[in-house]
Amino acid sequence: MKQQRILLIIGGGIAAYKCLDLVRRLRDEGACVRAVMTRAATEFVTPLSVAGLTNERVFTDLFDLNDEHEIGHIRLSREADLIIVAPATADLIAKMAGGHADDLASTVLMATDKPVLAAPAMNPRMWLNPATQRNVVALKGDGIRFVGPNTGEMAERDEAGPGRLAEVPEIMAAARAILGEGGVPHVTRLRSTRPLAGRHVLVTSGPTHEPIDPVRYIANRSSGRQGHAVAAAAARMGARVTLVSGPVALTDPPGTSVVRVETAEEMLAAVERSLPADVAVFAAAVADWRTEAAPGNKLKKTGEKHALNLVENPDILATIGKSSERRPPLVIGFAAETRDVVAYAAKKRRAKGADWIVANDVSANTGVLGGASNTVHLVTEDGVEDWPTMAKEDVAERLMLRAAEFLRRSTAAAE
Ligand code: CTP
Repeated sequence: MKQQRILLIIGGGIAAYKCLDLVRRLRDEGACVRAVMTRAATEFVTPLSVAGLTNERVFTDLFDLNDEHEIGHIRLSREADLIIVAPATADLIAKMAGGHADDLASTVLMATDKPVLAAPAMNPRMWLNPATQRNVVALKGDGIRFVGPNTGEMAERDEAGPGRLAEVPEIMAAARAILGEGGVPHVTRLRSTRPLAGRHVLVTSGPTHEPIDPVRYIANRSSGRQGHAVAAAAARMGARVTLVSGPVALTDPPGTSVVRVETAEEMLAAVERSLPADVAVFAAAVADWRTEAAPGNKLKKTGEKHALNLVENPDILATIGKSSERRPPLVIGFAAETRDVVAYAAKKRRAKGADWIVANDVSANTGVLGGASNTVHLVTEDGVEDWPTMAKEDVAERLMLRAAEFLRRSTAAAE
């Protein structure tokens, strides 16, 4: 970090004291550090101690008027290679997302054309609050980078969860990574981080539940993690996302509009209502069968064998993939197989009218169903790509980047 100029914006939170260590480490690595403190931050650490460590004067609202003469907020924000916001409080994040400029910190952030790294720290409930999550999605979409928060014990007693400020070495590593990219301004990054802006992505996810009677149902082991990760990735990339989800124990991915369904028939109806879309990703593990007629009352034991009369469910992917009307330009299916993965997937691609099939081995020993990672093969008209084992979030990210590139090319070809 030799000679790199860091502007550290210190927000008002209990974790503000960790900034003292951050300043020390940044300077140890040769960076020049200047600090802006919000009014609330000065309640937690004194500007004097920050100034002692930065070896520079500290900028707070209190000095606003003088500062405008000596060094304005524009200069403050421009004379930096990187801006680090730590701790990024819920309030500071909200101000950044809303484009507020009512104090020195928020004005500097509004005025900057430099990369910004935010290290959130707050109470877990404040972090998980939909408003904060919406703001974070918006800021990520704007090219703001985040490190943390970490999960663990909070300063308040009996409080634990996501909301701890990332550790100083983690913040340093994130800063180094951004500076290593040559300090590309986040406004320039915008286009590349929102490659799905203006697109509508429709995703199905989770299992379906097919009733046997009012209290029992047929289900499968799908957790919905892969489909939800696809929806989250598409939203981060700027798409309007409709997520049609069967029953799952996951929180709604930020920035998506979720339609909850139970059965395959409900899922098909919701998908049809959500069209048109630019991309449709069918990641749901739709039950292949449903009972022919579920009785209105609970089935009782009779001491005899009981057979369920099953009929096939509609194939949602095939219905949309083979429809001539309102077929999205890019239709992506998943193929869960336990053997001959690629061969079956290639067959499914043709049979269901999909453009791409993401094929994965879901044999019990792979731990894919309900697990965190996935080893997939992307089967397209042009052949098969073997992807390395990745977290489901990374599979999602890579898939949506490919989708964005596909749409970009087809739009360019049409012009
Ligand atoms: N799919 C669907 N509707 C169904 C069944 C499957 O939309 N009724 C979609 C899935 O979301 C997935 C793809 O079709 O994108 C393949 O799902 P998979 O379960 O692997 O295939 P099946 O058609 O059920 O084939 P089989 O179980 O016989 O392998």
